[in-house]
Amino acid sequence: MSRSLIIDCDPGVDDAVALFLALGAPELDVLAVTTVAGNVGLDLTTRNARLIVERAGRGDIPVHAGCDRPLVRAPVEAGEFHGASGLGDWAVAEPARPPAPGHAVQALIDLVMARPEGSVDLAILGPMTNVALAMRLEPRLAGRLGRIAVMGGARSAGGNITASAEYNIFADPHAAAVVLGSGAEVIVFGLDVTHAVLATPERIEMIRATSGDAAAATADLLDFSARIERAAVGRAGAPMHDPCPIAWLIRPELFELRPARIAVETTSPLTLGATAVEFRLGQGEAPSTRWAVAADAQRVFDLLATSLERLP
Ligand code: RIB
Ligand code: CA
Repeated sequence: MSRSLIIDCDPGVDDAVALFLALGAPELDVLAVTTVAGNVGLDLTTRNARLIVERAGRGDIPVHAGCDRPLVRAPVEAGEFHGASGLGDWAVAEPARPPAPGHAVQALIDLVMARPEGSVDLAILGPMTNVALAMRLEPRLAGRLGRIAVMGGARSAGGNITASAEYNIFADPHAAAVVLGSGAEVIVFGLDVTHAVLATPERIEMIRATSGDAAAATADLLDFSARIERAAVGRAGAPMHDPCPIAWLIRPELFELRPARIAVETTSPLTLGATAVEFRLGQGEAPSTRWAVAADAQRVFDLLATSLERLP
């Protein structure tokens, strides 16, 4: 029995890999993709999401464009990790289909509120601007959603965009505070766990040996990221940030989670976007948020290869 899922993202190389992982998984019924400004501008993230669903043979999935800037702070992009197009050096054409009509924020609300409570999961793979606005526009949304799986934050790993902040949270800390404080069931995959899921040369070769255009495109994207990672931090393999929440939605047993109170710094110029992840809970305290602390990296890549085998 598949679970309904909406994927909110800012493709983005690792967003692309996460989308392929989801689209090839029979456990997930992707109702829609919603896009947000993040790694690159909204026009590009929206074009890239349409290119990816079409490359996966799922051009039928609606892609709704969302917010073109964060709630409060000035936009900050991450093109240095994703290339000017947002999809590395992937030779891209224009998608065959236009974006779906309707803003992503309204589409999120309409899709979730039209379905039974708890039946629609949400993956957030970029800045949380769309979801925060949707929660404000429809106060019942947080309670209606199923699980929210988020890529964002850092605890012991430190930041990747500043010393203390991970990019998705840094890019819109106010939106992250709304979503993490909503009372919804939010499972957060921060750098602590994504840095353990590296696209090593051996794993890229495994993906390249997988048949189909989506697999070839994924191997090319991973090769691009590996070059960037090696030049930027000297690591032999880029962390698979955005595939982690998707892999958990498919195979939760691949990850270890801990209940945690998670707060976001929204005022300090020095530590804006930092996530305070507190495992020391009060007597009887049961936060609605959990933090991923470990992953079975090889089985995440095995899962990716299995998904890609199912795609054209
Ligand atoms: O810090 C990693 C996150 O920032 C990923 O979602 C990546 O796509 C970028 O958006
Ligand atoms: Ca992303």
